[in-house]
Amino acid sequence: MKVGFLQTFPIFGEKEENTQKAIHHLKQLDADLVVLPELFNTGYQFTSREEARTMAEPIPGGQTTQALITLSKEKQMYIIAGLAEREQDRCYNSAVIVGTKGFIGCYRKLHLFYHEKQWFEPGNNGLQVYDIGLARIGIMICFDWFFPEVTRYLALKGADIICHPANLVLPYCPQAMITRCIENRVFAITSNRIGTEKRTDEALSFIGTSQIVGTKGEILYRASPDREESMIVEIDPPKARNKQVTPMNHLFDDRRIEFTFP
Ligand code: ACM
Repeated sequence: MKVGFLQTFPIFGEKEENTQKAIHHLKQLDADLVVLPELFNTGYQFTSREEARTMAEPIPGGQTTQALITLSKEKQMYIIAGLAEREQDRCYNSAVIVGTKGFIGCYRKLHLFYHEKQWFEPGNNGLQVYDIGLARIGIMICFDWFFPEVTRYLALKGADIICHPANLVLPYCPQAMITRCIENRVFAITSNRIGTEKRTDEALSFIGTSQIVGTKGEILYRASPDREESMIVEIDPPKARNKQVTPMNHLFDDRRIEFTFP
């Protein structure tokens, strides 16, 4: 299975331009599945609830999801992409998964980071694993990585590949995802953005370094901190299904949850 990411540099508020640029790049890729960053079409640093509401779109009816669906069908490619979602007057920091037959699902970020709490509602539709035939896909968004139970939950639900749209500003995630992959024996694709936004007194610089990690923690590719780029690698998703660490140790069966879950 050919999987990868697109590392982008969105311009805040330029939804049409950001979307078209990403689509143009995706059209040139030969891949089964590609992950785009969190909030890839709008940019990140909202300054009010009203601003987020204005830019957010219904899912799946909104124009960005529809454009991704069209591309997905044309390219026979699964796409996971972060978007601001609007439902009535509420907004969520969401990610869609679309595929060759259209819309598949939407995940709403559970763990909101910093000022996101001022614009978005925390996710309320749980964590899902999508079986797309080639692999079982789990989705989490950016700061969710800080909560190891998210990856664990997705792995326990059968995910082979954790697709992880991100807008990382703290430096820790790329190294931490290596551990998430080892301890759950899953693949992970973190798709981050680059650039700086300064729409308030506080500048936010995004760290790039999108990456694809294998089930033993191998970094299959790590991107630059400051360039727009994409990478597609070939992986074998069923490798994630053998949770045997030694002949006598199983990642999930050996857990002692009666002692380790308060
Ligand atoms: C983040 O969750 N965007 C850091």
